[in-house]
Amino acid sequence: TSRPSASAPEREQWSSQYGFLLAAIGSAIGLGNIWRFPGVAYENGGGAFLIPYLVALLTAGVPILLLDYALGHRYRGSAPATFRRLGRPFEALGWFQVAISFVIITYYTVIIAWSVRYVGFSVTEAWGSDPTAFFVGEFLQAGDAGVSFDIVPAIFWPLLVVWVVVLIILALGVQRGLERANRVFLPLLAILFTIMVVRALFLPGAVEGIDAFFTPEWAALADPQVWIAAYSQIFFSLSIAFGIMLTYSSYLKRRSNLVPTGYVAAFANSSFELLAGIGVFATLGYMAAQQGVGVGELEGITGVSLSFMTFPQIISLMPGGPIFGVLFFSSLTLAGLTSLLSLLQVVSAAFQEKFGLSRVQASIFIGGFAAILSLALYSTTTGLPVLDTVDKYINEIGVVSSAILMSLLVAFVARKLPELQSHLNGTSTAQVGTWWRVLVAVVVPVVLVVMLVATVINL
Ligand code: PHE
Repeated sequence: TSRPSASAPEREQWSSQYGFLLAAIGSAIGLGNIWRFPGVAYENGGGAFLIPYLVALLTAGVPILLLDYALGHRYRGSAPATFRRLGRPFEALGWFQVAISFVIITYYTVIIAWSVRYVGFSVTEAWGSDPTAFFVGEFLQAGDAGVSFDIVPAIFWPLLVVWVVVLIILALGVQRGLERANRVFLPLLAILFTIMVVRALFLPGAVEGIDAFFTPEWAALADPQVWIAAYSQIFFSLSIAFGIMLTYSSYLKRRSNLVPTGYVAAFANSSFELLAGIGVFATLGYMAAQQGVGVGELEGITGVSLSFMTFPQIISLMPGGPIFGVLFFSSLTLAGLTSLLSLLQVVSAAFQEKFGLSRVQASIFIGGFAAILSLALYSTTTGLPVLDTVDKYINEIGVVSSAILMSLLVAFVARKLPELQSHLNGTSTAQVGTWWRVLVAVVVPVVLVVMLVATVINL
């Protein structure tokens, strides 16, 4: 029943399940693992955070990951095409996911371009004695000047390079583009990042940093906000409910082992996240030791400020800083690129299928549009708070509502859970039981609705 129509070209495919697994892990491991998880965990109970984190992973992360896989693999379409098969009006949910991915693309590219630029800056420690002033001053203000087109904004060339690279990969297609890129980028990331973490472990103060990271603050477990933070981290980190895993699994061969693949992807992602927590806090521990303060007194331990303000400062302090800087910013770049590719594929697949565009046409059209937006919106100092706000709304409201709608739609409107469960089990050597249906239909929507309400109240 899900055969492509006569006129439709043959659906693209991963060369193997391993190719898919790499791409799925490449999407999951992103900026969120490196700059979001360590700080979020530390601020939400340290070692104790691992409990809500694991609960969120098992009760929502893995079940929704498998739902994404099952939907994509069974209906073999982009997000809009897949949800349309569950009922015409539901195509809108697919477009909602496409829209979320598109918005993320516009700022993800900018952050990657910054990282590319900072690989170069690391070599000479170009940020001088005050990296924060350098970042928000010289670096971003060069972008402000560019708005008047007086001079080419500093970020223009790195951004152009990033766009050209990712669009070529996208245009090459699933197997020759995405799969090959992930086969190169992901192992390279693992190597560079591991070297960086090992180096960090030998810095004076590293042990105190790691100790601060893992010290459990048990009282945090009673705080609902901590649980909300854990669920948001899991959704963002696994790239679920964005249409990504759904799109990726639609290119899997029919005979694929879905359930174990999902377990491996989730495990790999969380392992990388823990490794990042150790590496980042070892490095922060060094900084605290150098400044003679406690790790708890440090500021700027997540996101843009961790990467472009705090880390440059530490790199300048440390012997061999330039090498450390190159490793760190290359890791950010690679981790970001593989996630960016997955976001682009969501949008590209949707446009190809809806409007009958070729891969190349879709890449040029989407890329051109997003490239202009990314440059216009975020390349300046005023873009920075915009980026933060957009990021917050996308994660706390966009993705959460998408996940709620998706599970309710599949469970209660289209009533496809039994069918999808047997699809998963029919393809896999490991089986999901009734527990999977209960988690998707009841636990996920209830938890997420509570989260959404709490978020909206707090706005
Ligand atoms: N999962 C990626 C991360 O951890 C981020 C991401 C989210 C990528 C959503 C694509 C889509 O950084």
